[in-house]
Amino acid sequence: MESTPLYKFLKLLLLLLISIITHFPPQSSATSTPLFPSEALPTKSGYLPVNSTTKSAIYYTFYEAQTPTSPISQTPLVIWLQGGPGCSSMLGNFYELGPWRVSSSERHNDEHLALIRNPGSWNRLFGLVFLDNPIGTGFSIAATNEEIPRDQHTVGKHLFNAIRAYIALNPTFKSRPVYFTGESYAGKYVPAIGYYTLKRNARLPPSSRVNLAGVAIGNGLTDPVTQVGTHATNAYFSGLVNEKQKTQLEKLQVEAIGLVRAGNWSQATNARSGVLKLLQNMTGLATLYDFRRLVPYETSLVTKFLSNVEVKRALGVNESMVYEECSDVVDAALHADVMKSVKYMVEYLVKNSKVLLFQGQCDLRDGVMSTEAWVKKMNWEGIGEFLVADRKVWKVNGLLAGYVQKWRSLSQVVVLGAGHLVPTDQAVNSQAMIEDWVLDRGLFAPGQNEDLSVTFRGAL
Ligand SMILES: *[C@@H]1O[C@H](CO)[C@@H](O)[C@H](O)[C@H]1NC(C)=O
Ligand SMILES: *[C@@H]1O[C@H](CO)[C@@H](O)[C@H](O)[C@H]1NC(C)=O
Ligand SMILES: *[C@@H]1O[C@H](CO)[C@@H](O)[C@H](O)[C@H]1NC(C)=O
Ligand SMILES: *[C@@H]1O[C@H](CO)[C@@H](O)[C@H](O)[C@H]1NC(C)=O
Repeated sequence: MESTPLYKFLKLLLLLLISIITHFPPQSSATSTPLFPSEALPTKSGYLPVNSTTKSAIYYTFYEAQTPTSPISQTPLVIWLQGGPGCSSMLGNFYELGPWRVSSSERHNDEHLALIRNPGSWNRLFGLVFLDNPIGTGFSIAATNEEIPRDQHTVGKHLFNAIRAYIALNPTFKSRPVYFTGESYAGKYVPAIGYYTLKRNARLPPSSRVNLAGVAIGNGLTDPVTQVGTHATNAYFSGLVNEKQKTQLEKLQVEAIGLVRAGNWSQATNARSGVLKLLQNMTGLATLYDFRRLVPYETSLVTKFLSNVEVKRALGVNESMVYEECSDVVDAALHADVMKSVKYMVEYLVKNSKVLLFQGQCDLRDGVMSTEAWVKKMNWEGIGEFLVADRKVWKVNGLLAGYVQKWRSLSQVVVLGAGHLVPTDQAVNSQAMIEDWVLDRGLFAPGQNEDLSVTFRGAL
């Protein structure tokens, strides 16, 4: 084509138009559905069968280690389980410890969702797997409601099947040390899958075993009969209720404990809810998950994000699936299980593996006091030494992060400046904690006194 004046004019006009469009994109692109940048996609996601005869399957997302310091075949795999009962691990993935978090920004008076990098992601050194557990939770599929677990043995069985299916996906997974971790009601699930794994491994040929290396529980409900008895005292000494209110709370707590003792499980669960409801009413707090918060955790951002068709497609989920943060159906299935203790499973795990219990300091549901109350009662020969072990001041990048108490296979961490969702509130510190604990370094390094005492006793 010839370079006529008209042609030059049209070309200039076109360039002008392009420059206007790129500087002032159409309004719709700012408010349209959030895109899932390809760099934020999980390494792999999909479904793991729990039972070969039904179509029930556990949904997973997997993020490979970003900067592993060991050969991949030895790089630990950390598996995360959300609580509830019935809450999706996509909360952990997109609001707590995953490499990308959903956040909102006000733009053009319209709420705009975006994925932003999490500086404290737990997949810096380790592979990280999120499981929507049990079936019926999040994007997981329950073929029938009857198949949804009603006890922790079935939870363990389903998870074990799913994890073995996961390990079979990649030949390098087999040799990698596996850590089960989770939060809140996963204070039941984590011991359940850990215990089930140890028991099953003992009866399986080495090639079929799951390479369990440890379990970690954040703000967990594990021994509810003990834990339900701590709310009144905890709130009173935190200055949140007066003595009269403390007595009222204690009355309800005693009722809940009585129902547990009578084996009246469903009523016991309701009684615990009653304690928490009264505590909520008396304190007027925005949330019992963190007494500092003026507004509850914004987990609805994740629900909004995962309801997007484009996001579901990117995650390998059928577009017709409706995402719920927590499933009422699963909650109902496990209603009578809530108050049943799995303390004996933790005792078995501390003898045959390693256990980390960590709590955000500002949680009024399953916090520090709630955990220490049952740990004290553990049936384990090391518990005496654990209870008198020094509580070490824990720092990250030179700043106070909390406290670590450890004796051999049992570690407890109090995380300062955190509520129920520790990784949300203290991302980088939670990352330092899990990395040091998994790798037995820093304050988690085997203590000299631990070894000396063995020699000392042996000499006696
Ligand atoms: C699989 O599901 C069927 C039908 O619900 C049940 O009978 C069977 O016990 C299940 N198998 C396992 C391993 O859970
Ligand atoms: C369970 O508790 C309810 C309500 O307190 C009571 O009516 C019922 O008799 C109890 N059942 C048993 C078996 O204790
Ligand atoms: C506590 O409960 C009472 C009685 O139902 C109600 O009037 C009051 O508004 C509640 N307070 C808070 C802070 O929820
Ligand atoms: C998605 O789910 C719908 C409804 O259950 C089903 O008809 C459809 O086949 C599914 N699509 C895919 C790709 O699995």
